Amino acid sequence: MSKDFSTLYHSGKAIFGEDPEPLLVNFLSQIPTTIPALDLGCGQGRNSLYLAGKGLSVTAIDPYQIAVDQTLANAKQAGVAISASVASIQDFIPSATVFGAILAFGLIPILTRDDIRLLTEKVMEWTQPGSLIFVTAFTSDDSSFVRYGEQGKQIGDLSFEIDDRKIRTFLAPGEILRLFDRVDIIHHWEGLGPWHQHGDATPERHAWAQLVAKRR
Ligand SMILES: C[S@@+](CC[C@H](N)C(=O)[O-])C[C@H]1O[C@@H](n2cnc3c(N)ncnc32)[C@H](O)[C@@H]1O
Repeated sequence: MSKDFSTLYHSGKAIFGEDPEPLLVNFLSQIPTTIPALDLGCGQGRNSLYLAGKGLSVTAIDPYQIAVDQTLANAKQAGVAISASVASIQDFIPSATVFGAILAFGLIPILTRDDIRLLTEKVMEWTQPGSLIFVTAFTSDDSSFVRYGEQGKQIGDLSFEIDDRKIRTFLAPGEILRLFDRVDIIHHWEGLGPWHQHGDATPERHAWAQLVAKRR
């Protein structure tokens, strides 16, 4: 993906598809329902929409106004309520004290190492025992890893800044398992995802790491 998210969202297409992440569907039954879920970097809202449609109270944030606007418009069209606002993990102050699930789908690849540490700290702060944590990331087995290494400036461990200030950070194989303390890992998978295309960008296939963890 070479264009920034705002440009991609302005295209009006469903950039990450309309379906929720299969991980979320598979682990829905284990998400506590008496407290809200938090979707960090909600994009166009496909995962928030799914949870809201299942009756959960959902808070969603994204730093791009267009993402929040599209999430709210999609929620309205689907007849569900989502509390969505413009914020990033760095400046978000939640109105709920804890969440029953925190979603961080596709967020780690675009954060610096410092921000990934901040993300993991915030996730621990905003969850309680029994909360589920969903994370997906690219690993250094990704076909783009060598390219970013050659074309970008290294700014951290397996982390690069590309000329338009875009960040791309890869996790080492197995590293996702060590992101959080005080959790039980209930799902871990690493491997090649499906071929896909974001809007009219070049088709690609990522090396993913997936994690679902339950707070102890
Ligand atoms: C790869 S997209 C994934 C969108 C959505 N989670 C999904 O799976 O459809 C990552 C999203 O994170 C948002 N984002 C970027 N930096 C962020 C930050 N610091 N805090 C929260 N969200 C961020 C982007 O605007 C983008 O919408």
